[in-house]
Amino acid sequence: MNYYIGADLGTSALKLLLVNSNGEILNTITKEYELSFPNPGWSEQNPEDWWNAFKLGVKELLKSFDVSLVKGIGIGGQMHGLVVLDKDDNIIRPAILWNDSRTDKETDYLNNVIGKQKLSELTANIAFAGFTAPKILWLKNNEPENFKKVSKIMLPKDYLNYKLTGVHCTDYSDASGMLLLDVKNKCWSDEMLKICNIAESQMPTLFESFETVGAVLPHIAAELNLNANIVVIAGAGDNAAAAIGTGTIKDGKCNISLGTSGTVFISSDNFSVDDNNALHSFCHASGSYHLMGCILSAASCNKWFCEDILKTNDYDKEQVNITDDKLGNNDVFFLPYLMGERSPINDTDARGTFTGLRMDTTRTDMLQAVLEGVAFAIRNNVEIAKSLGIKIENSCLCGGGAKSELWQKILCNILKVEIHIPMTKQGPGYGAAMLAMVGYGEFANVKECANTFVSIKKTITPDADISSRYEKQYKKFKEIYPSMKKLFKKIK
Ligand code: XUL
Repeated sequence: MNYYIGADLGTSALKLLLVNSNGEILNTITKEYELSFPNPGWSEQNPEDWWNAFKLGVKELLKSFDVSLVKGIGIGGQMHGLVVLDKDDNIIRPAILWNDSRTDKETDYLNNVIGKQKLSELTANIAFAGFTAPKILWLKNNEPENFKKVSKIMLPKDYLNYKLTGVHCTDYSDASGMLLLDVKNKCWSDEMLKICNIAESQMPTLFESFETVGAVLPHIAAELNLNANIVVIAGAGDNAAAAIGTGTIKDGKCNISLGTSGTVFISSDNFSVDDNNALHSFCHASGSYHLMGCILSAASCNKWFCEDILKTNDYDKEQVNITDDKLGNNDVFFLPYLMGERSPINDTDARGTFTGLRMDTTRTDMLQAVLEGVAFAIRNNVEIAKSLGIKIENSCLCGGGAKSELWQKILCNILKVEIHIPMTKQGPGYGAAMLAMVGYGEFANVKECANTFVSIKKTITPDADISSRYEKQYKKFKEIYPSMKKLFKKIK
């Protein structure tokens, strides 16, 4: 029996899983770290905090297990974050994360001066504020001294892989979200590197997610009480890793994640681009491709409303009064744009908004509106996929928000698709462990591994009454953002 460590480097915490070669999860450890918003719209973390969390977490994870059985490590991580190191490998500044919206000007420059068509030809995508290329330009324009020092550019999980192996590497799924990769041909785009004033020597070496990038360095292995020769695979962006963990690999399969962000991930055997670039066109961790829509605030809206506004951690208790008869009958609506919004509206000025409040509105109505607002925003992305001719009849669901049976039901009826809850909800960490198993040679490929391990625990089917009520509500929801759009520009 072999053991594998799968990690999910999230925005609120690092989640570590110990998985055996039968696919059983033997232990899990979560280590939280700080997320800072030093200016409005900014979102940063210290890569050193990730590394400390990883080191402490791995020791705890393995405390009562036979470490000699650990054969591989795989990490899935929050995408798009800019991590920059100087020539001596010092971190130059805090990492600028995926949900940071400071790059308005740079995003505008890329989309309107370089032009969306050109960007799409070069990278299969257009610029979004959270992508890495606009952040590189922001650094150049706003912190030229820091920009000059940049020797290595990498994504968040790549920092952990670099600390573990000394190899400056990334994988195609995560690299896709930098707006520097020629996604179709799986290589860095020379032209994009030029546009961002960087050289290929500053960029990580590209690997497939399941490929081995190296072994854990001897002094790190000693520090973590690990054996020498443990393989580290390239890993994946968290959404691609989650898709592996939920078995979303075959052409046309869909996975929805309700994490800090919310994503609709559609796996595809062939490369394709949404003509309007509303959905991202990225490489998959399986070796193929996918389309994806991402909303910037999903489970984080529920966390914000419960913890910061209602001052409670008891999420279940808050939801208990939201009974079936209330679903589709709420007069309160919520736009979940607490960090601006990415897909499909691409508007950093958009803001969270309640509307429809009355004197008899209760906290429960408002909470229900929060859960529904997130599901409506996810539906906006599903509608884009449908407009491209993609049929979504069912979807897996994972992420922290997927634990709520109420939210599962709301989503199922708003989207009008069957929802599959996999045996393990630990999507990205489990997927990363699976990639490590493939890298070590337990399986010939990712598909074979997923066919062996992934199974569905529960299926939720839409209810005709509830979904027809929600259909009417969705039409109203869709009118709110366009009527607020101009105002958002003024109140930013
Ligand atoms: C995807 C995205 C988010 C982060 C969250 O494009 O930005 O889902 O990966 O960790």
